[in-house]
Amino acid sequence: MNRRAQYAFMVLMIGSIASFQGVVGDARAQVLNMTCSSQNENNRTLFVPNFISLMETISDLMRQFGFGTAVSGSGPDANYGLAQCYGDLSLLDCPLCYAEARTVLPQCYPYNGGRVFLDGCFMRSANYSFYDEYLGPTDMVLCGNASHKGSNFQASARQAVSHAVASALGNRGYGKASVAVSGTNETAHVLVDCWRSLNQSSCQACFDNASAAMLRCLPWSEGRALYTGCFMRYSNIDFINKEPSNGISRGTIIIIVISAVSSLVVLAVIVAIGVYIRKRRYIQKKRGSNDAEKWVKVLRDSNLNFKYSTVEKATGSFNEANKLGQGGFGTVYKGALPDGREIAVKRLFYNNRHRAADFYNEVNIISSVEHKNLVRLLGCSCSGPESLLIYEFLPNKSLDHFIFDPSRGKELTWEKRYQIIIGTVEGLVYLHENPTNKIIHRDIKASNILLDLKFRAKIADFGLARSFEEDKSHISTAIAGTLGYMAPEYLANGQLTDKADVYSFGVLLLEIITGKQNNRSKDTDYSDSIIAVVSFRQSLFL
Ligand SMILES: *[C@@H]1O[C@H](CO)[C@@H](O)[C@H](O)[C@H]1NC(C)=O
Ligand SMILES: *[C@@H]1O[C@H](CO)[C@@H](O)[C@H](O)[C@H]1NC(C)=O
Ligand SMILES: *[C@@H]1O[C@H](CO)[C@@H](O)[C@H](O)[C@H]1NC(C)=O
Ligand SMILES: *[C@@H]1O[C@H](CO)[C@@H](O)[C@H](O)[C@H]1NC(C)=O
Ligand SMILES: *[C@@H]1O[C@H](CO)[C@@H](O)[C@H](O)[C@H]1NC(C)=O
Ligand SMILES: *[C@@H]1O[C@H](CO)[C@@H](O)[C@H](O)[C@H]1NC(C)=O
Ligand SMILES: *[C@@H]1O[C@H](CO)[C@@H](O)[C@H](O)[C@H]1NC(C)=O
Repeated sequence: MNRRAQYAFMVLMIGSIASFQGVVGDARAQVLNMTCSSQNENNRTLFVPNFISLMETISDLMRQFGFGTAVSGSGPDANYGLAQCYGDLSLLDCPLCYAEARTVLPQCYPYNGGRVFLDGCFMRSANYSFYDEYLGPTDMVLCGNASHKGSNFQASARQAVSHAVASALGNRGYGKASVAVSGTNETAHVLVDCWRSLNQSSCQACFDNASAAMLRCLPWSEGRALYTGCFMRYSNIDFINKEPSNGISRGTIIIIVISAVSSLVVLAVIVAIGVYIRKRRYIQKKRGSNDAEKWVKVLRDSNLNFKYSTVEKATGSFNEANKLGQGGFGTVYKGALPDGREIAVKRLFYNNRHRAADFYNEVNIISSVEHKNLVRLLGCSCSGPESLLIYEFLPNKSLDHFIFDPSRGKELTWEKRYQIIIGTVEGLVYLHENPTNKIIHRDIKASNILLDLKFRAKIADFGLARSFEEDKSHISTAIAGTLGYMAPEYLANGQLTDKADVYSFGVLLLEIITGKQNNRSKDTDYSDSIIAVVSFRQSLFL
C-alpha cells in the first residue's frame, strides 16, 4: 500500500468527507444523567470480563438494530444489559451515541450496574433481569430553563405529547409529533420512546406516568422524562432527526469544490508529506504476537517495573493538584521521582488483574515502539494494587491547549504548526509501517498530541491502539475512539484499518489550520463543527 498516495488522497478527499458527514444526523450523544446501582459487584474477577463482553455483544446489535439486550455470566455474577437508540437516530448515528454510553457507564464500577440516559440513547446494566421494569424510584424529569412560554405553546406541547404517545403504541414504542403554536411561528416538538423489551401495557403505563410528570415542566420551553422504561422530550427546538433508518436519507449532500485558499495550504502539506515519505527508509517484516502472561513476567523482571510506593510518593498520593487530565481509560497525574526526573503517571480505572488485557496491550505496544514522535514509556507498576503507566513528562501539555485557545494559539506560529503536522505524520507512518506489527492508534486527536519544550509533536495514549499482522487487511473490533474523529466507515461496519487513523488525522489537520474544534458531542450547534465550516467556506466558492 502506498502511504504517500493514501495521505494525499486523504487531504484531497477532505471535501467528500465533509459531505459524508453532512449525511449523518445528530447523534445527540450528550449525557443527561447517570445513576449507579448501590451494590458492589459480587466477584471482581468475574465482573469485569463479563461486563466487557456484554458491551461487545450489545455493540453488534446496536449497529444492526439500534437496540440490544444481552446476558453474560450467571447467578449472582450475571450481567444483564440493555441499550437502545431513540427511534429517530439512523443506524450510522446510533453507534456514535452508544460509543459514548459505553465509555460513560463503566464509571459506575465497582458498583454492579447502572443506567445512563443520553439525549439520543439509553443504556442500563444490572445483575438481574430488569427488561420488564417500567417505573422505579430513580425516575426523574429534567426541565430546561432557557425561556418561559405562553399558554398557546403549552397547549401545543400537550397536544404533541398525546399525538406522539398514540403513534408510538403502534410503532414499537417510538413516536414523534410536531404541533404548530397558533399565533406564533413556533412549533412544539415531541419525541417519545419506550424500550423495545416492554409489552404494550407496560409501555403505556410508562408513557402515562412520564408524560404527566414531564408536562409539569411547562411553561418552560423544554422538558425531558428519564424513566425506567421510557424516555420522552418536548422542546421548542426542532431536535428530531428527519427520516431515520438508513442514514443516507438525511437530505442535502453538500457539493464541494476545494477552495483556492485551502488548496494552497493542502498542497503545501502534500508536498511536505511527499518529500518526507520519499526520504523515509523502508523497513519491513512481521513477527508473531505476544500475550499478556508473558509480558507480566518480562515486565516484573525488567527495569520497566516501578514500585507502587515510589509512584505514589512521586505524585503526592495522587493529589488532585497534580492531576493533568482525564481520559476514557484513566486519570493522568504529574509526578517527580527522587532523582528529580519529572514523570506523567496514568492511573487506569480498573484494578490491574481485571484490565490486564488493555493494560498489557498498551505496555506491549508502546514498549515495542520507539520513535521521536511517540511519547516514551518509562515503565509501569504492574504488581501493586492498581495499574499505573509511567511516561516521560512533556511540559507543554497537549496540542488542544494551544490551538483552541485564542491567546495561547498565538504562540503557535505557522512554522510550529507545520512542524507539529509533520511530526504527527512521522509518528503515524512509523506506527502504520511498524516492522513487527502494524499498529493502529484509533484515537488520534488534539488532546493526544503532546508537545515537548521545543513544540515537537509526540503521539500519546495507546490505550485503544490495536496491532495486527501486516497481511491482514483489517480487523474487526469493538468501536472505540472519540466522537468527531472516527471514520464514518469504521463506525458503520466496525472494520478497523489504518485509514481510520488517516481520517482522524484529517480532522486534526483541519483543526490545526483553522483553530476550531470538531467535536460534535460538545457542540450544541452543528454549524460549529469544523467539518461543516469547511463545507460552508467551500460552498462560498461555488
Ligand atoms: C442524576 O440525577 C440525580 C438525581 O437528580 C442527581 O443526584 C445526579 O447528580 C445526576 N447525575 C448526573 C451525572 O447528572
Ligand atoms: C471469583 O471467581 C473466581 C472464578 O470463578 C474464583 O476463582 C474466585 O475464588 C472468586 N472470588 C471470590 C471472592 O469469590
Ligand atoms: C446482585 O448483586 C448483589 C450484590 O453483590 C447480590 O446481593 C444479589 O443477590 C445479586 N442479585 C442477583 C439476582 O443475583
Ligand atoms: C406486560 O408485562 C408486565 C410486566 O412483565 C406484566 O405484568 C403484564 O401482565 C404484561 N401484560 C400483558 C398484556 O402481557
Ligand atoms: C439555567 O440553570 C442553570 C443551572 O442552574 C444556570 O446556570 C443558568 O443560568 C440558567 N439559565 C437561565 C436562562 O435561567
Ligand atoms: C419568528 O422566528 C424568528 C426566529 O426564528 C424570530 O426572530 C421572530 O421574532 C419570530 N416571529 C414571530 C412573529 O414570532
Ligand atoms: C406514577 O407512578 C407513581 C409510582 O411509581 C405513582 O405514585 C403515580 O400515581 C403515577 N402517576 C401517574 C400519573 O400514573
